[in-house]
Amino acid sequence: MDKIRIVGGHVLKGTIPISGAKNAALPLMIASLLTEERLILENVPRLADVALLQRILGNHGVNITTNGKRVGDDPYAGQTLELDARVIVDTTAPYDLVSRMRASFWVVGPLLARMGQARVSLPGGCAIGTRPVDFHLDALRAMGADIEIDAGYVVASARKGLKGGRYEFPKVSVGATHTALMAATLAEGETILENAAREPEVTDLADCLIKMGARIEGAGTHTIRIQGVSRLRGARHAVLPDRIETGTYAMAAAMVGGDVMLAGARADLLESAFDILRQAGVRIDVSDEGIRVSRNGDGILPVDVSTAPYPGFPTDLQAQLMALMTRASGASRITETIFENRFMHVQELARFGARIHLDGDTATIEGAERLTGAPVMATDLRASVSLVIAGLAAEGETLVQRVYHLDRGFEKLEEKLSRCGAVIERISG
Ligand code: EPZ
Repeated sequence: MDKIRIVGGHVLKGTIPISGAKNAALPLMIASLLTEERLILENVPRLADVALLQRILGNHGVNITTNGKRVGDDPYAGQTLELDARVIVDTTAPYDLVSRMRASFWVVGPLLARMGQARVSLPGGCAIGTRPVDFHLDALRAMGADIEIDAGYVVASARKGLKGGRYEFPKVSVGATHTALMAATLAEGETILENAAREPEVTDLADCLIKMGARIEGAGTHTIRIQGVSRLRGARHAVLPDRIETGTYAMAAAMVGGDVMLAGARADLLESAFDILRQAGVRIDVSDEGIRVSRNGDGILPVDVSTAPYPGFPTDLQAQLMALMTRASGASRITETIFENRFMHVQELARFGARIHLDGDTATIEGAERLTGAPVMATDLRASVSLVIAGLAAEGETLVQRVYHLDRGFEKLEEKLSRCGAVIERISG
């Protein structure tokens, strides 16, 4: 298995191009199931999760083509996918695929809406929490679906098609909002989704669905209203920049110091995280080119943060912020409110010499001047990258194992960091 080797202590200076957002690309690809026409997605990141979803959609009958490289192409530009779901040949999403990527469960909404039936494996728990899918199912029930659980599968049907309904999510859920939004586009009549997720990835999906002919109002607010239409058409849409990748590199630059331009990043997608970084003493300048992050000389100040649904501080940046706070000049507190078990990085950060005390959903981090490199591994994507951030600042060598987690969500991570002066390489085998 590949490893990442880092020799810490080098400031970051240069430009990091920001890729398209993984968590927008995945639901956008799934939206291709809603139409017989071709959906063209630009700025799709080259990630293991995208490749896996291509396989999963292929299993339903979606033909997907990617444009090959051309002379003079920017090596960091995203890929263009053409997804053609003219004929859905299979409405089952099997366990061996869904269990490898939770987001693939979201096919349940479009399959049910277009085909009147879907049989999708329950995804099961994962490293960061139990992550049930009850809201997805209740939202579909509110649109008239019959749903049973049979041998680990959700068996959903709506023989006469889905009917518009009203559903209030008991808790903000990004995935359940995606599922319900996609399903409602083809339901007969009006659907009202209350307490919907306001994440930019939901808005990006809605923007694409609107281009496909969907009638959606209020995406990006708590209440989304959808007037169902009988069919959707093809469209062309560019995936929005990855705010979590942006925040991750901003924290890496803050951690080691230096001056980095996050090219193509959008500051409006990440205001809460940038507020926190400014409180920590990091300089953030926004321009047409992107976001410039710098920290010169001054130390990192401690912060007190709780994760929250958008526009709050994202849970997907919690581990990276914790890595940063291990070097703050005092004690920080980070409370995780979205997932019940998202502190798997704490024990690994301790291997660098970090001092972190866990009490329920709150971590107290006693900042230290010095971290020392160590062999480490993590159990999820964002936790893994927090170890890379710690390794960049630690004295000596760090070996990050289980690199496949990073490949799920960070495109060309080693290249992007090493072109800014980090000493980081992948060791194959
Ligand atoms: C999405 O997961 C993201 N994944 C996650 O990013 C992200 O951490 C999460 O949203 C929160 O922002 C993708 O977009 C592919 P949720 P999702 O439904 O949709 C509970 C990453 O590293 N809940 O918003 O699965 C749930 O258990 C990943 O890129 C229910 O109880 O998350 C959690 O506590 C990790 N019942 C909370 O809601 C349900 O039916 C929010 O989860 C659904 C969710």
